[in-house]
Amino acid sequence: MKRILTGDRPTGKLHLGHYVGSLENRVHLQDEYDTFYLVADIQALTTNWEHPEALAQHVRQAAEDNLAIGLDPNKVTFVVQSLVPQIAELTVLFSNFVSVNVLRHNPTIKSEAAQYGYDDLMYGFLGYPVSQAADITFCKAHLVPVGEDQVPHLELTRRIVRRFNDLYAPVLVEPETMVGRVGRLVGLDGNAKMSKSLENCIYLSDSPEMVSTQVNKAVTDPARIRATDKGHPEVCTVYGYHQAFNQGESADIATSCQGGTVGCVACKRRLTAVINKMLEPMRERRVEYQQHPERIDEILQAGTARAVSVAADTMEQVRQAMQIHYFK
Ligand code: TRP
Repeated sequence: MKRILTGDRPTGKLHLGHYVGSLENRVHLQDEYDTFYLVADIQALTTNWEHPEALAQHVRQAAEDNLAIGLDPNKVTFVVQSLVPQIAELTVLFSNFVSVNVLRHNPTIKSEAAQYGYDDLMYGFLGYPVSQAADITFCKAHLVPVGEDQVPHLELTRRIVRRFNDLYAPVLVEPETMVGRVGRLVGLDGNAKMSKSLENCIYLSDSPEMVSTQVNKAVTDPARIRATDKGHPEVCTVYGYHQAFNQGESADIATSCQGGTVGCVACKRRLTAVINKMLEPMRERRVEYQQHPERIDEILQAGTARAVSVAADTMEQVRQAMQIHYFK
């Protein structure tokens, strides 16, 4: 069976943008691939090093969100990054042949640095894409489902793998990238991106009432004052969500909006119902885990143990390839 490795930084709750960007692909592919799901806590520290106290809760939150969306812990290996020392070892070895300029020109690093207001970049932050290459290669993943913003990191991973295999011996696997069906979901405020820091999100863990409140806040076509005014769905946030979550009805909704036969209130009510219907099975699974939080810890510990044994095999081959395998 081919492998998937994917993951999240544990920085808080996951939202609908994450879902259509990459999470749903994990769920769909878990039967076809031996799937590793990584909680990238070391990577979270590259922006949150001053607040390690939040990590323990966020690690469990990331696992809970992924269990809620339907990753089956009997099939999927849940991994805590900081407990796989081989990831750190691989990161150090790879860093010998990744240039600082390549890292500085990574567009995701640049936009995150701007977002966080970093000017003098920390070594760990600048280098986290190298560590991400180690995340992906320790288990020789063939496929990596991610959001659009991760594409530059996957390009770097592929480069590192090719370089390693050329320099030493062909032991690593060059992974394919898989981006979700909606590259970037707009925020409730109409911002190009749904993002926690912009507070324009609907979270997977939101209650039905909260989803309704949030959808009601979403900005619509500003030219539409009365329900009978002719609307412009292409500029409407709510229509963007209908396209993402309500494909079956979205063409009809566009026509009714353009013709002024459906008002924004009714259109939002319809969207709320569709989103809540999608979230309902997730809520049921989430409640189960919230009643048995010890299960989440067990899943993380068992998965991490398996990951360490897979990583140890890879590390053995890497050491041999690099001729740093002295006493065997
Ligand atoms: N960088 C990813 C994010 O911010 C999280 C991540 C860490 C990841 N390691 C990974 C994703 C390996 C895919 C593969 O969402």
